[in-house]
Amino acid sequence: MKMLVVLGSPRKNANSETLARKVAEGFAGEVEYVRLNDLSIRPCQGCGGCDKTGVCVVKDDMVQMYELVDDADRIVLASPVYFYGLSAQCKAFGDRFQARWARKYLLKDRFRAGEGRKGYLLSTAATRGPKIFDCSLLTTRYIFDAMDVEYGGEFLVKGVDKRKAVQDHPDDILRAVQFGKDIAEGVL
Ligand SMILES: Cc1cc2nc3c(=O)[nH]c(=O)nc-3n(C[C@H](O)[C@H](O)[C@H](O)COP(=O)(O)O)c2cc1C
Repeated sequence: MKMLVVLGSPRKNANSETLARKVAEGFAGEVEYVRLNDLSIRPCQGCGGCDKTGVCVVKDDMVQMYELVDDADRIVLASPVYFYGLSAQCKAFGDRFQARWARKYLLKDRFRAGEGRKGYLLSTAATRGPKIFDCSLLTTRYIFDAMDVEYGGEFLVKGVDKRKAVQDHPDDILRAVQFGKDIAEGVL
C-alpha cells in the first residue's frame, strides 16, 4: 500500500509538514512526498479541454502529479489554513483535478473502482475558531471525490503559527503517529 504525501505549505519542515511526516512514520509503509511549492502548476484554465478525454491539456508538473495520485493507495493533503481555506498551492493542485472530475462524471470512467483508495486532509491553523477548517474540509472532500478516492478523514491542529510551533504540542505529534497507524491498519 503506497502513501502519497502532498505537502502544501511553502514553509519547509514547518507545522503541517512536521505532522505529515509523523503520520507517515506511523503508517510505516511506502511513502512518497511531493512539495507543491517546488513544482510549476498552472491554475486550471476552465477551458473544457479535458471534457472529452479526462486528460488535462496543460502540460506542466501536474503531468507527474496525476501519475503519482493515480498510483497511490492513500493520499494525505497537508495544507496550512490560508484565509480560511487551503493554501494556493493546494487549491491550484486541486482545481486541476477537474480533468479527473470529467473522467468520472462526464465519461463515466471509474478509476481503480472498488480498490478502497482513500484520501485525508491534514491541516494546521494559527487561530482556534470553531469554523477554521470548514472551507478546507469541504474543498478537500470534493478534490478527493474528483480523484475517485474515498474521503478517509482529517487530522487538524489549531493554535500553531510560528514555523516550529507544533514542536510544543507533543500530544498532537503522538496523535499524528497514531493517525498514520490507523491508516495502515484500516481503521481510517
Ligand atoms: C497567507 C497566510 C494566511 C493565513 N490565514 C490564516 C487564517 O485564515 N486563519 C488562521 O488561523 N491562520 C492563518 N494563517 C496561519 C497558518 O495557518 C499557520 O501558521 C499554519 O500553522 C502554517 O502552517 P505551516 O507551518 O505548515 O506553514 C495564515 C498564514 C499565512 C501565511
